[in-house]
Amino acid sequence: MGLDPCMLHLYSKTYIIHSKEINMVSYKELGLVNSKDLFKKAITGGYAIPAYNFNNMEQLQAIIQACVETKSPVILQVSSGARKYANQTMLRYMAQGAVQYAKELGYPIPIVLHLDHGDSFELCKDCIDFGFSSVMIDGSAHPYEENIALTRKVVEYAHSRPDYVTVEGELGVLAGIEDAVSHEETHYTKPEDVEDFVKRTGVDSLAISIGTSHGATKFKPSQCTRTPEGILIPPPLRFDILEEVEKRLPGFPIVLHGASSVPVELVKIINENGGALKDAVGIPEDQLRKAAKSAVCKINIDSDGRLAMTAAIRKEFKEHPEVFDPRKYLGPARDALKELYKRKNIEVLGSAGKA
Ligand code: G3H
Ligand code: 13P
Ligand code: ZN
Repeated sequence: MGLDPCMLHLYSKTYIIHSKEINMVSYKELGLVNSKDLFKKAITGGYAIPAYNFNNMEQLQAIIQACVETKSPVILQVSSGARKYANQTMLRYMAQGAVQYAKELGYPIPIVLHLDHGDSFELCKDCIDFGFSSVMIDGSAHPYEENIALTRKVVEYAHSRPDYVTVEGELGVLAGIEDAVSHEETHYTKPEDVEDFVKRTGVDSLAISIGTSHGATKFKPSQCTRTPEGILIPPPLRFDILEEVEKRLPGFPIVLHGASSVPVELVKIINENGGALKDAVGIPEDQLRKAAKSAVCKINIDSDGRLAMTAAIRKEFKEHPEVFDPRKYLGPARDALKELYKRKNIEVLGSAGKA
């Protein structure tokens, strides 16, 4: 049995589809917000909203603690891998729990629940029906016209909801690994395409490719220079492309993916405690700070959080081999993540105090 199309505009209903009970819910009922107003304020205020990925309770606690303590709005990102790992029903209640948790901590920050790198209409629709307040449809691997058609379809559905779900599109391809999809090379966004793309799709924000990349090894050593100590220095971001995009789309929200900085000290702790991260290199924080002051109003960070947690866990295991209570190593990992994100909000994104 399919859904009656006229019912798509209703929410908070239970439907039986293929013998499964599906609860459609509005993000507003979960206490979440979409990203529209947050982006408007971020562009005029010269800062970026942190978009942190989560897959489990400790990551979510750390994100909420960090953002409440710094009074920062936050975008909680869920990839399709996270959805498979954690279960979508669990994620919905975790996001609702995060809203209550922030209140309990004493400062109710605005929280967006966002699908990261959605790759199909069906996945985006599912997330929207399940209470996400924002989705990304990443059609960047498709030819231009197909990307437009797919993105447009998601926008039509998301914007037709009475609660208005915001949509992020992507133009240009980032190098690196996203879930099962890996791209060998960067394809920078062509500024001459952005107006046409935004106009024809109706997206609320646009992810562009200016030299950031996913994962902890963002560049090959051959693309970098080295300090006398042997530390890799990556090629600079293409601010010329960003400036051209801003000229063509004045005041339009731009998103930067692949924005982890891969701190040298975290990589060192990991490698000194049994890890094997070779040639790890990220985006220098001063470049991200510069980007956050421009039309870039959402900055995606996941790998740095993974590194912070892994460094803390490896250290605990090395120093306390007798420990077998997960709280004894997940607790310090959660604290390390919280401290990292507090610092990002204050020193890199400029989002502290903006909630
Ligand atoms: O851009 C990708 C994010 O870091 C999510 O990673 O697909 O491994 O969950 P994942
Ligand atoms: P990093 O791998 O640089 O943290 O990027 C995360 C990201 O872009 C999530 O969409
Ligand atoms: Zn990404």
